[in-house]
Amino acid sequence: MNIVNAKDFDSMNRKAASIIFTQVTLKPDSVLGLATGSTPLGIYQNLIELYRKGDLDFSSVRTVNLDEYYGLDKSSDQSYVYFMWENLFKFINIKPENVHIPNGANTDADAECRRYNQVIAELGGIDLQLLGIGHNGHIGFNEPSDHFEGGTHCVTLTASTIEANKRFFGDESQVPRKAITMGIKSIMSARRILLVASGVEKAEILCEALTGPITPKVPASILQLHGSVTVVADEEALSRMNA
Ligand code: PGA
Repeated sequence: MNIVNAKDFDSMNRKAASIIFTQVTLKPDSVLGLATGSTPLGIYQNLIELYRKGDLDFSSVRTVNLDEYYGLDKSSDQSYVYFMWENLFKFINIKPENVHIPNGANTDADAECRRYNQVIAELGGIDLQLLGIGHNGHIGFNEPSDHFEGGTHCVTLTASTIEANKRFFGDESQVPRKAITMGIKSIMSARRILLVASGVEKAEILCEALTGPITPKVPASILQLHGSVTVVADEEALSRMNA
């Protein structure tokens, strides 16, 4: 596991974006696994900037997003499909047909999970998976559990995740209770993983995930077993590791 120290959020964004930049430059038709949340926002801004300067071309890139709320209409401004278009895709030259996100509006959740596993398989797997980490150690929406889930599945969100995500909804009661997420096996099958974390509130869980026991109670701890993980985190997020 390669841990890259970044001074602050801006530096974390630049360093993480440069890893994605290198991936796409070396393999223009890369399959990028993408993430939502606050942490990747600055990375996406850096990628947009690189595209605007003519340094990055997304015309052959394929993307698969980690997860989506279940039961939320696609047009909802809280959906992850909306997030991805508003924060990245609409500013770059990615082809809409190359964008893949679980469909949280499919009333048959099991069929949607099967479809999404098939999408990832048909793309030939993920070259580089970007991940944030939840306060409870979740990756994607793989919540703490007594076992590691395999492929794409439907989950019930934990109270901690609902609490963390209510900031996007205004009110906790508006946060969907379920989501569709890639499973741990889907994530661990990615050829490379880029985990990003920022801020002191992630320090404890980041340290636990990277140095503690490998347990489904801290889903991100499984990353210790992956052969090609780069963690880019700022000083605050790494403060427990360096203590
Ligand atoms: P955040 O979310 O980037 O908004 O902190 C990370 C996550 O929950 O995976």
